[in-house]
Amino acid sequence: MTPSISLPAVIKPLTGVLGAEISGVELAQDLSGELFDTIHQALLDHHVLVFRNQTLTPEQQMRFGRRFGELDFHPFVEGSTEFPEVLNIVTEPNDQLNFGGGWHTDVTFLAEPDLGSILYGIELPEYGGDTLFSSQIAAYNALSDPMKGMLGALTATHSAAKQYREGGPSTKSKAIRINDTDPAGFTARHPVVRTHPETGRKALYVNGGFTTRINGVTRDESKMLLEFLLNHAVQERFTCRVRWEPGTLVMWDNRSVQHHALHDYAGQRRHVRRITVKGDQPR
Ligand code: SIN
Repeated sequence: MTPSISLPAVIKPLTGVLGAEISGVELAQDLSGELFDTIHQALLDHHVLVFRNQTLTPEQQMRFGRRFGELDFHPFVEGSTEFPEVLNIVTEPNDQLNFGGGWHTDVTFLAEPDLGSILYGIELPEYGGDTLFSSQIAAYNALSDPMKGMLGALTATHSAAKQYREGGPSTKSKAIRINDTDPAGFTARHPVVRTHPETGRKALYVNGGFTTRINGVTRDESKMLLEFLLNHAVQERFTCRVRWEPGTLVMWDNRSVQHHALHDYAGQRRHVRRITVKGDQPR
């Protein structure tokens, strides 16, 4: 794909499947309607947007996020004291686990999971710490018609307890403060294939972070189907990989991608600042 230009933004795809780097935009500015529309359309087209060399205060990051909708508060992770919507995601050099270190879609245990997440790089390791993304639209499109037909009739259960129960994987990254909200009440049922509310495109909607069960089939069938789908959904041909630098801002469409924050930088510190935009009920 050739870069497309909508002055002053230049949009350069990262791969033929998903991801684009946008240059010529200063997100600290209050964006014009036309420029915002270009960025919004790029998100719908490419699902993952990368902006380099940004200098952003938390307020400016939040102002950019609010152009897409109301900001969300994480039910389990403590936000910053000044702005509870803002999460400081830190991995310390001696941490064994990092936040988001496995394929997942954010907060699918909510009835209305987030539309998207916006991360700003503050302190990054010299090497490692990339984030991987996988297009769930491409993963869906690669399935056979009989498989698409069967999955189209199914729902799955998503549970916060998988990550946030006492001693669960997401409670173990030491630099993240997890509150004492009981995760037991945070379960949701969503279609296994969701239709994107803005583009009408279909995407697989199960993820390794929170999906616990395919409903309406036997336990063995659920296990087998989930194992197949979770492996299928993150094949290399559906992915892109983002390398971070301080000042990099990445936004992804949580309705059409899964992501995975790699933890391959032992001995180094990583700090990114995250906000999320509220989404709607998957259908
Ligand atoms: C997350 O899952 O939100 C964390 C992503 C990252 O740190 O790259």
